[in-house]
Amino acid sequence: MEKTFVMVKPDGVQRNLIGDILSRFEKKGFKLVHAELKQVSKELAEEHYGEHKEKPFFGELVSFITSGPVFAMVLEGENVIATSRKMMGVTNPQEAAPGTIRGDFGLTVGKNVIHGSDSEESAEREIGLFVGDKPLVEYKKDDSTWV
Ligand code: PPS
Repeated sequence: MEKTFVMVKPDGVQRNLIGDILSRFEKKGFKLVHAELKQVSKELAEEHYGEHKEKPFFGELVSFITSGPVFAMVLEGENVIATSRKMMGVTNPQEAAPGTIRGDFGLTVGKNVIHGSDSEESAEREIGLFVGDKPLVEYKKDDSTWV
């Protein structure tokens, strides 16, 4: 089953949005297979955002993501990468549609509440970076009671 890496960024943690955000993914039907409140180191931040090293906002991005704990998760489900990105809304919260996480909770592009992997390759890479060799939790969810 497809998996993705999602994190509530430090602004979302500070603003007590972890529960609201996780609830959206749970209600959608995705399965949480890893969750961790984690202080991101400068090294991890630089590696995670490595492809943006040359961007003018790179320094700001690294200092923001290391400014406080993030809530890191791995979600599992059918088409979870694309669907969870749709639920997040576009990068700039000012352009994100109402009803999306960034559209409802975000204020500026620099503090846009949430991150999610954008492809199978980045999901695999980001799960590796953030979860490492800790095993994902395997358990059954009884979908047979769903309408
Ligand atoms: S790009 O240029 O299109 O590749 O960038 P984008 O995919 O939109 O954004 C990459 C990540 O950088 C964050 N970002 C910013 N941070 C601080 N300041 C500014 N101006 C800025 N613009 C983009 C953006 O939120 C992306 O982070 P993630 O965690 O992937 O959402």
